[in-house]
Amino acid sequence: LTERILCHPESPEPEAIARAAALLRQGELVAFPTETVYGLGALAFDADAVAKVFAAKGRPSNNPLIVHIAGRDWLEWVAVAIPPVAHRLVETFFPGPLTLILHKHERIPPVVTAGGATVGVRWPAHPVAQALIRAVGAPLAAPSANRFTEVSPTTADHVLKSLDGRIAAVLDGGPCPVGIESAVLDVTTTPPTLWRAGILSQAELEAVAGQPFQRPQPGAVVASPGQFPRHYAPRAHVELVLPGDVPNIEHRLARWLAQGQRPAALVISEVTPPAGARLLRLPAQPEAYAHRLYAALHELDAQGVEVIVIEQVPADPAWDGLRDRLHRAAGKP
Ligand code: TXA
Ligand code: MG
Repeated sequence: LTERILCHPESPEPEAIARAAALLRQGELVAFPTETVYGLGALAFDADAVAKVFAAKGRPSNNPLIVHIAGRDWLEWVAVAIPPVAHRLVETFFPGPLTLILHKHERIPPVVTAGGATVGVRWPAHPVAQALIRAVGAPLAAPSANRFTEVSPTTADHVLKSLDGRIAAVLDGGPCPVGIESAVLDVTTTPPTLWRAGILSQAELEAVAGQPFQRPQPGAVVASPGQFPRHYAPRAHVELVLPGDVPNIEHRLARWLAQGQRPAALVISEVTPPAGARLLRLPAQPEAYAHRLYAALHELDAQGVEVIVIEQVPADPAWDGLRDRLHRAAGKP
């Protein structure tokens, strides 16, 4: 059975943190809240502990983990040959929802990086994550705390629904403020490669980096294996419709009902669903939308909805990270 350790999100109780840190130091797995999503933590320098993460998630061992640190001066502990562009980004965006891919330090075991020469490094802003990593006194390797291909968890309940009995504990610090995973930016390439968009916009990141980024080419060799389609997917079948195409949404709901399916719509626009269809409306601001998106998908899955008709988000760069997550939820690259 997995232990739930309750913890205040802003000022975590020292006993709660000490309990979770003790389990981690024994080589156990503990899920913890970050500002983006819940992470499944293991001692990054302990290859056996990290191997348990892959087993608990059912994650292929070719998909590298992010190493979480708790201070500016921890960077040199896990990475080498850090380029000036990384320092500029760290100065502005750390701690926060950004992961930098850097050349790995030799003390990081290969299991963390899937045998690769680079390592993802993130300094989370969440007070619980910071207190936990500081209490452990060493970096934590942590993917999102869900089974492979499932929607990332933004509450401790989501974690338990997916991993109960497979991990030692979850540190329950309430819902994650951001709600979608960090932006993943590779600064070992020239120009830098934005592997995964997040809530920080590409333009914001580029302005501080002082140069435009490249995006992965469709069909290129995947150097960031987490970027496969059908990651971040709910159990239900997902259909995307164009922003504002309300008649199409209502038509699809009616058609699925007629076919005996249990449909739902996840929308921003005002929609009048036919009787028998579920409707969830999300806010029209990217930050507020991100905060609610995964909880909405988890909720619809829990209700046994079979089809989710999702209104695609606006075609504006501020929504890039969210448009990407919706494409993945629909199983599209
Ligand atoms: O917000 C987040 O990033 C959360 C919290 C817990 O920090 N973590 C998270 O981890 O989403 P995960 O493992 O679910 O996603 C990490 C992504 C994957 O797509 C992985 O392929 C990519 O980062 N990644 C990790 N290390 C990499 C590396 N060295 N090179 C390229 N991509 C890497
Ligand atoms: Mg994940």
